Amino acid sequence: MNTPHPFDFVLRNARVATASDTFDADIAVVGGRIVQLGTGLAGGAREIDAAGRVVTPGGVDAHCHLDQPMASPLRMADDFESGTRSAACGGTTTVIPFAAQEKGQSLRTAVADYHQRAEGRAHVDYAFHLIVSDPTPKVLNEELPALIREGYTSFKIYMTYDDLKLDDGQILDVLSVAREHGAMAMIHAENADCIEWLTRKLEAAGRTAPRFHAHSRPMLVEREATHRAIALSQLVDVPILIVHVSGREAVEQIRWARAHGLSVFAETCPQYLFLTAADLGLDDSYQGARCVCSPPPRDKANQEVIWNGLNDGLFTVFSSDHAPFRYDAPEGKKPGGEEVAFRHIPNGIPGLETRLPLLYSEGVLGGRMTLNRFVELTSTNPAKAYGLHPRKGTIAVGSDADLVVWEEREFVLRNTDLHHNVDYTPYEGQRLRAWPALTIAGGELLWDGQFHGRAGRGRFLACDAPSLLPRRA
Ligand code: URP
Ligand code: ZN
Ligand code: ZN
Repeated sequence: MNTPHPFDFVLRNARVATASDTFDADIAVVGGRIVQLGTGLAGGAREIDAAGRVVTPGGVDAHCHLDQPMASPLRMADDFESGTRSAACGGTTTVIPFAAQEKGQSLRTAVADYHQRAEGRAHVDYAFHLIVSDPTPKVLNEELPALIREGYTSFKIYMTYDDLKLDDGQILDVLSVAREHGAMAMIHAENADCIEWLTRKLEAAGRTAPRFHAHSRPMLVEREATHRAIALSQLVDVPILIVHVSGREAVEQIRWARAHGLSVFAETCPQYLFLTAADLGLDDSYQGARCVCSPPPRDKANQEVIWNGLNDGLFTVFSSDHAPFRYDAPEGKKPGGEEVAFRHIPNGIPGLETRLPLLYSEGVLGGRMTLNRFVELTSTNPAKAYGLHPRKGTIAVGSDADLVVWEEREFVLRNTDLHHNVDYTPYEGQRLRAWPALTIAGGELLWDGQFHGRAGRGRFLACDAPSLLPRRA
């Protein structure tokens, strides 16, 4: 007679790393959740031997843009299918893209539309941040509070981009809602008027090649906006999270805020560790359009500042800011098929699949951070910051069985190895020292060198109150 297996799946002989511990264990799974951790566990209906390899919680990419509606002719290269496929192949098992409100649009409509874009297409679980671009009284008093209650507990505010930016009064209004209803406010901090003034000056001088994008957004425009965002949050007395911090000047503002006891969280991204402004071009070639993103990458010295901030706790979250546009495409970096002035190049670079391997290779194996800090930055803290912990972001009894088994091997990254729908990676030719051997989501094997996903298996996650926020009576 066959003995029934007590577990659906067992991952054996794992070297488990969480944000706080590293230990050896088998991981047993029933119904997609971890039910036991320990050595010598009973059998599973399916078993995989991790053979002593490092196993981390699946990555949580808390800042990525998938199939976000764009003004014609632009279109993002990745939708929920290709974006989450690419995520899984790079070890990320939860994504949080943005349901973006257009000016004049109801926030509810934006959320309903975004659900349609995701429905039946995601390979991994997903939640939504909101982007609030039109904080009307109805949005502030009705829609936003109701959506927060329903599980959309974080939103992004822009201080730049004409179609998205809010003025200081509007930011105060939106931050007040975050405070009253317990949401996490993410802020894109760049001074729009300075950028516009500099852009006009550059254009008048005929400096419109991609590399001048970086000249139009020097660090001081990020520093000023970061300072202002901190002051606005202090006025309202609410925590904020500054996204995609690029270098020393913004870092100094955040350190100042922390030293004054303010709850200012910060995120950074691979482009500020692995790219510099030189990647936008040393001459007027259009190739640099590939690396046009905002804030722009800085220089080697600023990369060190970001590494230090990752290691010493300044940064809470490490995200990709995946904003995918094909390079050689009329809906991408060559709008309408033209090589356009930098102001018209869509901002953003791909990075969902490469986020974890880049940081594991250079951060952990390069000796710049511990394995536990890597887990904290890429999985645990993003899950906490956006109300998904402990279901996501850790390896513990009761958590989803989202796991990455790491293989340490040296190779050179090529875009042809990746699974996004973008025709380049900014990290082409980068030497890597690790890549996920296996990605497991909800106990299902999604990646083992081949992709085994199934569009629609990923579920929408309603978020709880972010656990990094203070509990208010
Ligand atoms: O250049 C970027 N970062 N594009 C994506 C949109 C944003 O501001 O995050
Ligand atoms: Zn942004
Ligand atoms: Zn972004």
